[in-house]
Amino acid sequence: MKPKVYIAKPIPESVEKYIAEYCEYKIWDEKTPIPKEKLLEEIKDIDGLMLPKGEITNEFLDQAPKLKVVSNIAVGYDGFDIEAMKKHKVLGTHTPHVLDETVADTIFGLILMTARKLSECNHHVKKGHWNKMDSEDFFGKDVHDATLGIIGMGRIGEKVARRATQGFNMNVLYYNRSRRKDVEEKYNVRYSDMTNLLRESDFVLLMLPLTNSTFQFMGANEFKLMKTDAFFFNCSRGKTVDENALIEALKMKKISGAGLDVYEQEPINKDNPLLLMDNVVTLPHIGSATKKTRDDMAMRAAENLVAGVTGKTPPDVVKEMR
Ligand code: DGY
Repeated sequence: MKPKVYIAKPIPESVEKYIAEYCEYKIWDEKTPIPKEKLLEEIKDIDGLMLPKGEITNEFLDQAPKLKVVSNIAVGYDGFDIEAMKKHKVLGTHTPHVLDETVADTIFGLILMTARKLSECNHHVKKGHWNKMDSEDFFGKDVHDATLGIIGMGRIGEKVARRATQGFNMNVLYYNRSRRKDVEEKYNVRYSDMTNLLRESDFVLLMLPLTNSTFQFMGANEFKLMKTDAFFFNCSRGKTVDENALIEALKMKKISGAGLDVYEQEPINKDNPLLLMDNVVTLPHIGSATKKTRDDMAMRAAENLVAGVTGKTPPDVVKEMR
């Protein structure tokens, strides 16, 4: 008998076919997120679950006594309660590597959009407001030759560093729990403590995974250290920033602007003051959103799922469970 799995979001046909070879499966094929009650109903009798960034808690796992593996279709797995999963002997997997270059592209797009006011310019032209004079309102800040501070030198941080030094001749500082001498040598980046990084950088990029120790890592004190003409970027998880402190820093002009792909609450609340600020560019958490990368992530998640329910070690077990 084939193991039973549930896939909690639409996936490419080729990935569905691959899963069908090894598993009996059901799938949530709607574009809207699966309702919680529906998911709870579906997990009662399954061996494996594949889902996008789900909250896997003790209570959730109590409802799925046969579950062996939860395959997250994302690299970030902050929704996993690792201790609860260990207790229930459920393996957690994620999708590293396949999205690194795509997210680094998005980050560079966001840096350019924000620093050079590209989004504002686009709206201006489309609204028919362009007259012959070049408006100083659209003068931005140069990205090339500037100093970029990367907080969190993981796989994606490294790809951003390569673009920054080799493509834009930037001076790159980074802060990380452990020093990355390999990246320093490859891309001529310099390790820095947080204070120095925040004081020196023209662009500060936060790329830390969300954990108990990185919750609101950037707060009022950190924004205070930044230069008033510097910009802040977050493409990791919204909760790594104290969003109220960011809003305050922007309102009080302690920093020049921000480019964000992630927020404390997603989708972002319509009343969030960030949405009214011209110097803030807001993306809808689309760091990895290209067709190829999303397909690759789905395939990688499927491989993890199938391995997990057929008694093999999945290739991408999260590091706390290896
Ligand atoms: C990830 O893979 O973690 C991206 O942020 C998409 O959720």
